[in-house]
Amino acid sequence: MLAFTLPYTLHVLAALIWVGGMFFAWLILRPALAAALDGPSRLRAWAEVFPRFFGWVWVSIATLAISGVAMIHLRFNGFETAPRYVQWMMGGAIVMVAVFLRVHALLLPQLRAAVHSEAWTEGAQVLARIRRMVGLNLLLGLLVVALASARWSF
Ligand code: HEM
Repeated sequence: MLAFTLPYTLHVLAALIWVGGMFFAWLILRPALAAALDGPSRLRAWAEVFPRFFGWVWVSIATLAISGVAMIHLRFNGFETAPRYVQWMMGGAIVMVAVFLRVHALLLPQLRAAVHSEAWTEGAQVLARIRRMVGLNLLLGLLVVALASARWSF
């Protein structure tokens, strides 16, 4: 029983940190910084916020993958016999990781370069793209959690 409880708990905590972090960034921090800071300061603030959060996202991704695969073997005896909602969850995870990789590997360096060279217009455009990508991943994350919790199998 404990053999399943441990990966299950770590799995749910990792999902909470990733999806909850995006929820906070999108719905609370973003409007608060927009109200409190001018354009350049806002871009500098986000260039500090993202790398700090993204480290935790990598920890969450590793934890979700390792604990998820462990649970599949413990409860369902392999990928082929896993229920449909678990397969949807894995599909959702792959898309979420791809979107996150795009933001971390491609857009964040562009944002940092714009802040470094004080190219505020370009920086604002990159930040708008990051906002859309994180918004998409937030929606996907909420959907995956709802799907997993309800154990929908369609
Ligand atoms: C490699 C990727 C993943 C694998 C292999 C995986 C696998 C699993 C498995 C096997 C379970 C247990 C299902 C059960 O006992 O009925 C589970 C539960 C869960 N997963 Fe995932 N998962 C993955 C990614 C994710 C992601 C990206 C999220 C959310 C962002 C997520 C959220 C959840 C939640 C909330 C539960 C608990 C559902 C419940 O029992 O109420 N998983 N996952």
